[in-house]
Amino acid sequence: MMDAVDIRSATMDDSSALADLSTQLGYPTSPIQSANRLGVILDSNKHAILVAYLADGKVVGWVHVFLAFRVESDPFAEIGGFVVTKEFRRQGIGRCLLAAVEEWVIQSGITKLRVRSRSNRVDTHTFFERLGFSKSKQQHVFDKSLKTDAGHPASVDAATRYH
Ligand SMILES: CC(C)(COP(=O)(O)OP(=O)(O)OC[C@H]1O[C@@H](n2cnc3c(N)ncnc32)[C@H](O)[C@@H]1OP(=O)(O)O)[C@@H](O)C(=O)NCCC(=O)NCCS
Repeated sequence: MMDAVDIRSATMDDSSALADLSTQLGYPTSPIQSANRLGVILDSNKHAILVAYLADGKVVGWVHVFLAFRVESDPFAEIGGFVVTKEFRRQGIGRCLLAAVEEWVIQSGITKLRVRSRSNRVDTHTFFERLGFSKSKQQHVFDKSLKTDAGHPASVDAATRYH
């Protein structure tokens, strides 16, 4: 039986909890990195981070959604990250977070929601398909590391510059 879970928007006070869950998602993140990133994201009305929390306040899941603008297509919303803590999976929390995301997207006047998911996350694909998504394409992702003038990785500077 699922504990009582509620959904709210994230605040800066959630940065440590979000760091832990990001690490669980496979992206090792320190509380400071998380706070820097949250500072940028929470400042923008084109992004939302929603958290699921228990009656005692413990955060057990988060989802980040943002509005994506392209020259060649109408705006759509994209899920940037989504995780429920291991011990609380399969209890309907992901479903509740997704419903809250959909409400935010609709309120933003957007009618398409996209999520990209690693090809080996087979269970996650089942989750999205059960909740109404259908696979539209497969892609390869190409990354390139760049340095700023100061020699730091660009992402370190960006998190502070855009805060
Ligand atoms: C994907 C994730 C967020 C789903 O959260 P969740 O709280 O476990 O999902 P729910 O309990 O709301 O599941 C809703 C429905 O999805 C389906 N589903 C969820 N997880 C599933 C799994 N592992 N295998 C098969 N079906 C699954 C079921 O139909 C489920 O309903 P049911 O339990 O009544 O049968 C969670 O599993 C997770 O954090 N996974 C690891 C990180 C990840 O892959 N994130 C997404 C990156 S794109």
